[in-house]
Amino acid sequence: MPNGPPVVQSFLTMEDVWETYREDLEEVEAHIRRNLDSEVPLINQMAAHIFNGGGKRIRPLLLILCARLCGYTNKEDLLLGSLIEFIHTATLLHDDVLDEADLRRGQQTVRRIWGNQASILVGDYLYSKAMQQIANFHNHSMNEVLSDACRKMAEGEILQLCATNQPLLTEPEYLRIVEYKTGALVAAACKVGAILGGAPPAQQMALYRFGLHLGIAFQLADDRLDYTANGTQLGKTLGQDFMQGMVTLPLLHLLRTATYEERQWIITHLHAPSLDTHILLELTDLMQQYGSLQYTLARSRDYINVALLDLEHFDDSPAKRSLAVVADYMVSRER
Ligand code: IPE
Ligand code: IPE
Ligand code: MG
Ligand code: MG
Repeated sequence: MPNGPPVVQSFLTMEDVWETYREDLEEVEAHIRRNLDSEVPLINQMAAHIFNGGGKRIRPLLLILCARLCGYTNKEDLLLGSLIEFIHTATLLHDDVLDEADLRRGQQTVRRIWGNQASILVGDYLYSKAMQQIANFHNHSMNEVLSDACRKMAEGEILQLCATNQPLLTEPEYLRIVEYKTGALVAAACKVGAILGGAPPAQQMALYRFGLHLGIAFQLADDRLDYTANGTQLGKTLGQDFMQGMVTLPLLHLLRTATYEERQWIITHLHAPSLDTHILLELTDLMQQYGSLQYTLARSRDYINVALLDLEHFDDSPAKRSLAVVADYMVSRER
């Protein structure tokens, strides 16, 4: 591990953590269902489709764990967890339009079944529904961090749109996109937990940074999985980023280390309407050869190690140990 051993030693597994918080996550699920109550039945139907596909519910879990870490014992973290999941799902509905994705959570995307317009509008509905209920908490810090995250996610996706088909994209530019499009919401989930738990500002900031670094690591791992995962397990189409002309970290690393001829070959195939299996295989072979996948994994682990440093602001507790396990899972996950 590049930055030394993890700060928090834990013998728990991710399965233990899922099991410990199973009832809480079931209650999050119940809040999600209760909130699918639009007078427009088609909205409920489309939203139910994407929620039924599953999803890891990692953001609600982080919110709950951060709230408990800060001593929170009531149940409002479960409602807020469901609202964070509404926001996340809204971004997925929009993202699948941008990425022209046909598969999400192992099933057809909403845009594939009902069309792009519907996907965008249901996304807007979920955003608004979440923000409306968050406003009911009358908590300025919560409103601030969540609306800031929504703004950053839109900015991140637009920055990424501008970076499409740009083989000269730099690593700092890529990391900024990742921080905005993914880091901001994970950071907000963690900070909302801290706010609920009445944590002092320094601890709120520590958990915001913790979530931000976790979120960045999570997206780096996702960008690696886009080339290496088992497609069925991932529930998404492999090579989607390359097909869309997106220069993510494995490709960025490959482009800067490959030979001139190899780079030209890559650029010729970047942004293809469809991707032959043999081209994807050649690409991943090159990535293996130049250490691009290992590099992405190592950078992802670096972010986790930085995130763990921020847990030092907190005394040992079951929640803290669980957070360390979730941190590791952000990178080691296979779906
Ligand atoms: C997918 O998020 C979008 C990224 C930020 C990579 P998740 O991997 O959390 O998606 P679900 O909710 O588990 O399907
Ligand atoms: C993540 O982007 C989506 C958001 C954070 C809005 P990706 O496009 O990389 O995620 P997947 O692979 O489609 O889940
Ligand atoms: Mg996508
Ligand atoms: Mg995308």
